[in-house]
Amino acid sequence: MAIVYLEKEKLFWIDTKHTSYVLGIVDEEQFVSHVYYGKKIRRQDISYLTRTGEKPYVPSKNNRERSAFLDTLPMEYAGNGLGDYRESSISVRTKDGHEGVAVAFEAYDIKKGKPRLKGLPATFCSEEDMQGSGGEETCMTLTLHCRDNVLGLSIDLLYSAFEEEDVITRSVIVRNTGENAVFLTKVFSASLDLDNQDFEMVTLHGSWGRERQVECREIGYGKQSVGSFRGESSHQEHPFVALKEKHAGEDAGDVYAMHFIYSGNFLAQAERTQHNMIRLTMGIHPQNFCWKLNPAEEFVAPEAVLTYSSAGMGQITRNLHDMYRNHLIRGEYRDKKRPVLINNWEATYFNFNTEKLLEIAKSASELGIEMLVMDDGWFGHRNDDNSSLGDWQVNEEKITGGLKHLVDEVNNLGMKFGIWFEPEMVSPDSKLYRDHPEWALRIPGREPALSRNQYALDFGRGDVREYVYGCMARILRSANIEYVKWDMNRQLSDLGSAFYSPECQGEISHRYVLGLYEVQERLTREFPHLLLENCSGGGARFDPGMLYYSPQIWCSDDTDAIERLKIQEGTAMIYPLSTIGAHVSDCPNHTVGRNTPFETRGIVALSGTFGYELDVTKLSEEERMMIPGQIKKYHRYHDLIRRGDYYRIASYSSNHEYDCYIVVSKDKREALMTFVQVLGMPNCRSRRICLKGLNPEYNYQIEGRDETYGGDALMSCGILIENQPGDFKGQIFYLLAQ
Ligand code: GLA
Repeated sequence: MAIVYLEKEKLFWIDTKHTSYVLGIVDEEQFVSHVYYGKKIRRQDISYLTRTGEKPYVPSKNNRERSAFLDTLPMEYAGNGLGDYRESSISVRTKDGHEGVAVAFEAYDIKKGKPRLKGLPATFCSEEDMQGSGGEETCMTLTLHCRDNVLGLSIDLLYSAFEEEDVITRSVIVRNTGENAVFLTKVFSASLDLDNQDFEMVTLHGSWGRERQVECREIGYGKQSVGSFRGESSHQEHPFVALKEKHAGEDAGDVYAMHFIYSGNFLAQAERTQHNMIRLTMGIHPQNFCWKLNPAEEFVAPEAVLTYSSAGMGQITRNLHDMYRNHLIRGEYRDKKRPVLINNWEATYFNFNTEKLLEIAKSASELGIEMLVMDDGWFGHRNDDNSSLGDWQVNEEKITGGLKHLVDEVNNLGMKFGIWFEPEMVSPDSKLYRDHPEWALRIPGREPALSRNQYALDFGRGDVREYVYGCMARILRSANIEYVKWDMNRQLSDLGSAFYSPECQGEISHRYVLGLYEVQERLTREFPHLLLENCSGGGARFDPGMLYYSPQIWCSDDTDAIERLKIQEGTAMIYPLSTIGAHVSDCPNHTVGRNTPFETRGIVALSGTFGYELDVTKLSEEERMMIPGQIKKYHRYHDLIRRGDYYRIASYSSNHEYDCYIVVSKDKREALMTFVQVLGMPNCRSRRICLKGLNPEYNYQIEGRDETYGGDALMSCGILIENQPGDFKGQIFYLLAQ
């Protein structure tokens, strides 16, 4: 059993393959204390770890120091305003305006499997289990039923253990069992108190065109955080945080990570206390959040994913990759090779029509490309980004002969067809906005901020969602459309809803996200064979929440292969390669103006979903002729890339010269190493690169070479990579055990 209760010791003990997580009930007041998280240890009495502060420690025997006790006891889920001065996990305002809240243990249950979180994306034991047909063997759930009797609130803390992946998920359900409505002003999903081990904080930051760059910083006293209140997880910061021992690296050292299965506002924070403890918290950002909870209602906090490894950041990466591939991503395409697509955005922008698209499709199909995706500009009268969002009717002046005709023609070429939508938005210049200005988010008396000349719809409203879904479904039913790119090109502001009452205006951001989830759930249910790719101005909503609905997400609008090395490094640190939308695009690159060899562009895109984003009819003959070879490699190596274990060998963003990573099959019989020499060094001898993740006992042949190499030698002595003249040279090495 992964989870047990040690009754005498009052300890709940959660084990995964290599980790133990222990929490305990302390004192007659039933405080829920965090006791231990880290390397797996034998089950035993470690309740002595909860004796902090002044003897005899607990308030029932030493109430004169109650506040000191509350302020030092490691807590699982800290109350607010009653003497623990560290970051609280929950905050509740009563009708009288008071804010105190306590979290006292009352009862527990331990069950096989995992309950769903209503309205939210969340991990599951298995997809069969989701359909109610078993598969419960892979995880277990502990629920601690806690209460605040003064408020009449029940607070359930949920912990699920995924043994194989070394992951523990947490979430919280708050129910109002009292007679008055209360206002939840903060409901975090997880809190973790650890003794400081000279930790550093690893986060991901970015901007449009340079998402998810890895950052590592010291943890000073006080609070340091990353967060978003942009209404989406954002380009700028990411709902992920890791604490790593100062000397921990890719392959060794203690690392704790927390990741949030949510696509809206978040806060991820490390607080270093006076006693050198670190309190790590994660949840919906409390700024602008205020949720009215009426009697008998419940609020479900999104799920946080926790993982620990004593084997460095690389193992955290592999734990999360396995977790998401096995227990989060759903649907037909989860384990399948995706069709090689060509998207017309960078090829034509808004300037296309049926004839142009068919010209691209024809040429692409001859080269082995399998799907045409028609991007922005096919609806309303949209010829630039100033109009028509919300008017999801085909513009037959551009799509002459209609959509079905275009799709049929593409299908006749042997290709699939995909389409772009931006469902959450409305242009001021649209029929939708003229008919329903009240459907856009706005605060009465203020002119709402435009961004890309568009407003965000109030997606928390059922009538808005119904309209949008109706439009999308009508288009999707009208032709054989097999892929949708769901975009979101502005962040939220002016949070005012004409629909919600004054006291519920603080719910808008979260309701927006719940509305988004509802529509994507409906879409994937009605169109189960559809390949959905999420997108947000590039990769601003690349998060585990969206992965529950779409197996892949567009990673960045920056398609430059060298910039992508950095973006894909940060992304692959926590997301499987199967999820990373990556395309070969034209040069000079439209974002950075750089020229890179066509071959390198292909090699970098191969570590993602793989596709093209260029006008194939305008390529040089030499480049065109490279496409069939690239597609052949995709078909040959992509099962390995999607399913294998990913090891980072070198990072261009830190060494500024070259990038290197390897994907090794689970049975260690095959591997594909990617090496990109970004800067050719003058007078540089060849480089020794030590591989990772192989079986030291196996002998491997590298494709294209006659020699075989011992796995032990490859990992300890390395292979030689010649310094090639010139910059931006990419190479792949395929290894097969003999
Ligand atoms: C966003 C996407 C792009 C493209 C444009 C269309 O920026 O990230 O790939 O779809 O919108 O307007």
